[in-house]
Order: sequence, then structure tokens, then C-alpha cells
Amino acid sequence: MQTLTTIPDLRQACRELGRPLGFVPTMGFLHEGHLSLVRKARRECTSVVVSIFVNPTQFGPNEDLDRYPRDLPRDLGLLQAEGVDLVWTPTPAIMYPEGYQTWVTVEQIAAPLEGAMRPGHFRGVATVVTKLFNAVQPDRAYFGQKDVQQALVIRRLVADLNFPLEVIICPTVREADGLAMSSRNVYLKGQEREAATVLYRALTAAKEAYQNGERNAEQLRQRMQSVLAAEPLAQPQYVSCAKMDDLQEWQGEIEGTALLSLAVFIGQTRLIDNLVIGGEL
Ligand code: PAJ
Repeated sequence: MQTLTTIPDLRQACRELGRPLGFVPTMGFLHEGHLSLVRKARRECTSVVVSIFVNPTQFGPNEDLDRYPRDLPRDLGLLQAEGVDLVWTPTPAIMYPEGYQTWVTVEQIAAPLEGAMRPGHFRGVATVVTKLFNAVQPDRAYFGQKDVQQALVIRRLVADLNFPLEVIICPTVREADGLAMSSRNVYLKGQEREAATVLYRALTAAKEAYQNGERNAEQLRQRMQSVLAAEPLAQPQYVSCAKMDDLQEWQGEIEGTALLSLAVFIGQTRLIDNLVIGGEL
């Protein structure tokens, strides 16, 4: 497994890798969720490239950039064991050199939900992913449903900017109790860890209501709110039942596919999760 840092080295090495080339962008501190993307890429592609870069431009001023967890030696060991061909670990100075001033903004699909709560977040994501795609030039790129709006933003960006690659969205990997795996779960202390299961409990309660015939979007949002309200350590930020295609809130009865999603503070830690009902992603 090669580990490279500079863009010229990376470009040269990627040109020499067999095709199709699968790419998994990450911010490191890898867990089974990340590794599920790597394994799918490994099964489907001749070569697999993983990037590890904690992208400063997607963090807001009061977010956790400075304390975002990192463990590069451990990450490299995990990726080596998965048979990854190349790991790219650029630095902030390589990605955003002095004088940097070019940004990629995706509009409507990036506006609600995470976009509304984290101004500038998707501009940072879209910009860095564009730069990563330009450097690696993959045939397929793998993203997790865990960050479903991010995956939809990237899909839109790939179509709109004519990147010759396929975006593949992979299922959310969960802990045994339902908590979606996240690098940020290490922030959960003491009772917060158990309280954090409330996100998945709220989503599944709404999904069960749907399966029992409830079609009213407000009722489904209410169902999630009432589960969240029963957890004293949880501070909900948003609770959504949105149309899958444009992520606008469903009003009245839902028809076809809907995305249930939420963002919840458990203590100081902000967690997100989602489930799709009435169809496929
Ligand atoms: P990061 O949070 O490290 O996640 C990297 C990829 O792993 C994303 O596609 C994310 O959706 C996926 N992932 C995270 N947890 C998952 C889980 N429990 N199950 C399945 N997939 C999961 O997302 C980012 O990094 C960054 O925004 C990035 C795209 C790298 C741009 O900086």
C-alpha cells in the first residue's frame, strides 16, 4: 500500500493504477462504516484509493475542527488490512495554499437540513470533493447513507460538473444498539452513549408508524419528536420528513419516497441520522 501526500505524486500514482478505480474520501479516525465503503470498492473495482483529510473549510467557526479525532497510524493499518492500493493524506497547505479563492456551491439540494444548520458546510464539502475528484480521477466514488444529504449534494455536483464517475451510496453501518457509527461517537461520555440511541429509536418509531399506515408527514415528525422528548440528555435541532428528490418538507400526506432525518445534540455532541421510507434512496 502506497501512502502519498503531494498532488503530483498522487496524480502520477493514480495514472498507473488499474481501472476501474474506486475512491473513498474520508476524514480518518476510521470505523466499520468507513470500512464498509472500502470493502464495497474493493469488491467492485480493480484499484482502491482512500483519502484521509480533515477538511477545515467544511467546519463552522464554533464546530469541532480543532478536536476532531485523528489516528493516522491506526487508520493506515486498517486500510492496509483491507487491501487498499493507495492512501492519500494531503495537508491543509496542499489543498488550500496561500491565496486560495475558488469555491464550489451546490444550490437547492444543499440549502435545507444540514445546509440550514451549518452555513458554509456543503460549500466546503463540495469544494474539497471536487478537488479530490480532480486529483484522483476515479471511476467510482463511494459515500455513506449516514450523511445522506452530503451524498445527494455530491451526486448533483457530479452530474452538474460532468465528472465522468459514478457515485455509489452505501447503507449506514450501526452499532448493535442502533447508533449509527460516527467518528464523533468518541465524544459521548458516560450516560450520553446510551442516550444517543434515541436518534435511531425515534427514526424506527416513525418508520413503524408508516408501516402501520400513517401517511401524514406532520404525524411522522411528531412521532420522532415525542421519542426525543422522552430522553432528557437529547436536544433536537431539527426533525424532518422530506421529499427524497429535493429534500423539501412533505406537507400533508406523503406519496412515494420520503427521507426521515434528524440532528440532535447529546450534551455537547451533535449527531445526525436518517432512514428512507416508502422506497429506495
Ligand atoms: P467522514 O465523516 O470521514 O465520512 C467518510 C464517508 O464515510 C462518508 O461518505 C460517510 O457518509 C461515510 N460514513 C460515515 N459513517 C458511516 C456509517 N456509519 N455507515 C456508512 N457510511 C458511513 O463525510 C466525510 O468524511 C467528509 O465530509 C468528506 C466526504 C470526506 C469530505 O471532506
